[in-house]
Amino acid sequence: MEIKSLSIGRLSTKNNVFLAPLAGFTDFAFRQICYELGAGLCFTEMVSAKGLNYNNEKTKDLLRCSPLDYIKAVQLFGCEEDVLEKAAKSDDLKDFDIIDINMGCPVPKVFNNGEGSKLMENPTLAGKLVNAVSKSGKEVTVKMRLGIEHEKDLAVDLAKAVYENGAKLITVHGRYREDYYSGQPYYDKIAEVVNAVNIPVIANGGVFTKEDADVLMENTGAAGVMLARGALNRPWLFSEILNKPVKDKKSIIKRHIDLLLQVYPDNIVAINMRKQMALYLAGVKDAKKYKLMAFEATSTKQLKQIVNELQL
Ligand SMILES: Cc1cc2nc3c(=O)[nH]c(=O)nc-3n(C[C@H](O)[C@H](O)[C@H](O)COP(=O)(O)O)c2cc1C
Repeated sequence: MEIKSLSIGRLSTKNNVFLAPLAGFTDFAFRQICYELGAGLCFTEMVSAKGLNYNNEKTKDLLRCSPLDYIKAVQLFGCEEDVLEKAAKSDDLKDFDIIDINMGCPVPKVFNNGEGSKLMENPTLAGKLVNAVSKSGKEVTVKMRLGIEHEKDLAVDLAKAVYENGAKLITVHGRYREDYYSGQPYYDKIAEVVNAVNIPVIANGGVFTKEDADVLMENTGAAGVMLARGALNRPWLFSEILNKPVKDKKSIIKRHIDLLLQVYPDNIVAINMRKQMALYLAGVKDAKKYKLMAFEATSTKQLKQIVNELQL
């Protein structure tokens, strides 16, 4: 794929290979790892606009940034103009440059609340939300899917509505809500969105290798790609796509642990790293054995010993 900088309103990204918002994973430490490996832009995981307005401390912890967040991009979810506007203008988000609005989350708790992918059915409201958040003066972006069900494409209408109301970039996850995360993305449907608006459109879905990124770009005409699960297992995928030398993988995992240790106590990091270790171990020789060891580890010293033994 052609690597290039993208404009998001008045901002310019280092390149067009982005890290997706991933609930439970894309915290300051993982984003820093991805930036060190070449990512062009990284988003926080989705953060509840209501939670921010209620001063929920756990919600606020999701906003912690790393020194490498050269553009600070937070993803919010919500479906009420006043709630989103208040969160966008709040002190908590004062350092952020980009607010991405989640219009793709499929989980029932979010969907049944009128948020996430439910917004795809209501382009008028979606446009109003973009307009409301734009009042914060920050650049507003939107991440969406293709629709709810296969029979009904919603992405083009939604994209036009958010574009006309000031969105500066759109990411399209090329699947429908009913697909959740399975199957190949529908390239032609992403391409329809690319052709419908005059702002950069990022293609997302199913990028696990450099070749996947090339195919996604070629078939959609998108301005860039967004890595999600592919980066969780192998954040060095950024370096591969960018044709950069890949750093020693064991030292990347150990660095991830060390970054978390700058903020949290050792035992908490050991527990929090379990799910991430399971992902790093996918496809590794004797993965099952090492996963069990990682789940029993109570210190980061033990985790690092496991990393030393891996054949990566
Ligand atoms: C564990 C997990 C958490 C996710 N969290 C978010 C999120 O917070 N916000 C969001 O817009 N999408 C979220 N997604 C969707 C991803 O950003 C991405 O759109 C999706 O995984 C498709 O890309 P992939 O096929 O390359 O994984 C999540 C996906 C997974 C698997």
